[in-house]
Amino acid sequence: MNFRVRPVNRLRGRIAVPGDKSISHRAALFGALAEGITEVRGFLESEDCLRTITAIEALGADVTRKGAGEYRIVGGHREMLEPDDVIDCGNSGTTARLLMGVLAGQPCAATLTGDASLRRRPMGRVAEPLRLMGATIVGRADGSRLPLLVRGARPLHAIAYDTPVASAQVKSAVLLAGLFADGPVTVTEPAASRDHTERMLRQFGARLEIRGRSITVAPGDLHGVSVDVPGDVSSAAFMLVAGAVVRDARITVLGTGVNPTRTGVIDALEAMGANVVQGDVTQEGEPSASLTIAGGPLTGIIIAGELIPRLIDEVPVLAVAAAMARGTTHIRDARELRVKESDRIAAIARELGRLGAAVTEQPDGLVIEGGQPLIGARVSSGGDHRLAMALVIAGLVAEGETVVEDTACIATSFPGFAEAINALAGGAAVTVEP
Ligand code: S3P
Repeated sequence: MNFRVRPVNRLRGRIAVPGDKSISHRAALFGALAEGITEVRGFLESEDCLRTITAIEALGADVTRKGAGEYRIVGGHREMLEPDDVIDCGNSGTTARLLMGVLAGQPCAATLTGDASLRRRPMGRVAEPLRLMGATIVGRADGSRLPLLVRGARPLHAIAYDTPVASAQVKSAVLLAGLFADGPVTVTEPAASRDHTERMLRQFGARLEIRGRSITVAPGDLHGVSVDVPGDVSSAAFMLVAGAVVRDARITVLGTGVNPTRTGVIDALEAMGANVVQGDVTQEGEPSASLTIAGGPLTGIIIAGELIPRLIDEVPVLAVAAAMARGTTHIRDARELRVKESDRIAAIARELGRLGAAVTEQPDGLVIEGGQPLIGARVSSGGDHRLAMALVIAGLVAEGETVVEDTACIATSFPGFAEAINALAGGAAVTVEP
């Protein structure tokens, strides 16, 4: 499927974005592991998160869909069933990596695979600590690429692990495996990554100690709870950037998760000169707020260091903001972008370049000379959902028509994306190319 995008002068409205992807995956997995019942509201019914639902069902969890985004998960599956087939994680790195952690502690064997993109992504970063804990993980590329067979052990050995990458998926896999260890398990990360696992482990009754960048989990059981999933700030980011770059824009995104480990995009937009106003803030569980932004002049900035893990998924759309800003934006320390759903450094430079943006690829980031006018062209997502949506936002401010090829992937994280843009545009800014 390809999207045709026409430029707009005005975006107005209040919208809600679908549930947070990271929190939805965790609610499903934790619910499957927990004793008793877990009720989830606001679950993101996207392809990625539904992969996690299918996976936990294959492992014996009893899942009932009670309504849109409402799930009842009957746990008690600290002892999971051995799945009778390969588990296909599709495009979802979070499903694969967090499941590896859970499976490491199960007295059974399971094979995980994924789509072509996921099969290219590095899994050794998760397999390595899990092997140190006693799990057997074998597969392609010396056991570092899907498909991978995980044969769990119980109890696992308690370890203290210094992860070389600031990755919430690696951290989460080790902490989940730690629930089945013979003593406390500690993970130390080089920079703070999203902390949804830590928050939710506590909510489900796990004993957790956090000292700076070291997190220690004690082995033990989880207990089912109710989880309210806020809107995904990573999805809201597309609307915020649209609101920042379209001349006559005023957009409010309601009920968005504003966990500080995820709000780097707000900080970056504010540093560029945008004004993001937070209202209706709630602090229970995962904090949420409404976010209001209006169009205005942006200036190039440096995005680097500890800010990077706080906005890692938002770099494609921030690159669009940078292309529309006055001056140069430098994005550094973001080598991780090369191993996301696509090599996002190469893809952003190539595809925004096709629209006329001056983007130079660096080994660990991008240099974007803002202010070049964008001119509509044919561009492609390469099957990467965040690239697809970022290119649609670029199309809203490019001159003439833009065609974004390969947009079906948007369903992995943001079902209803085009409809949301059109609601704000008050017309058909985004249509399917016949
Ligand atoms: C995620 C962590 C991040 C992020 C991904 C979701 C998570 O990946 O890019 O979209 O839910 O834990 P890494 O852990 O590889 O940084």
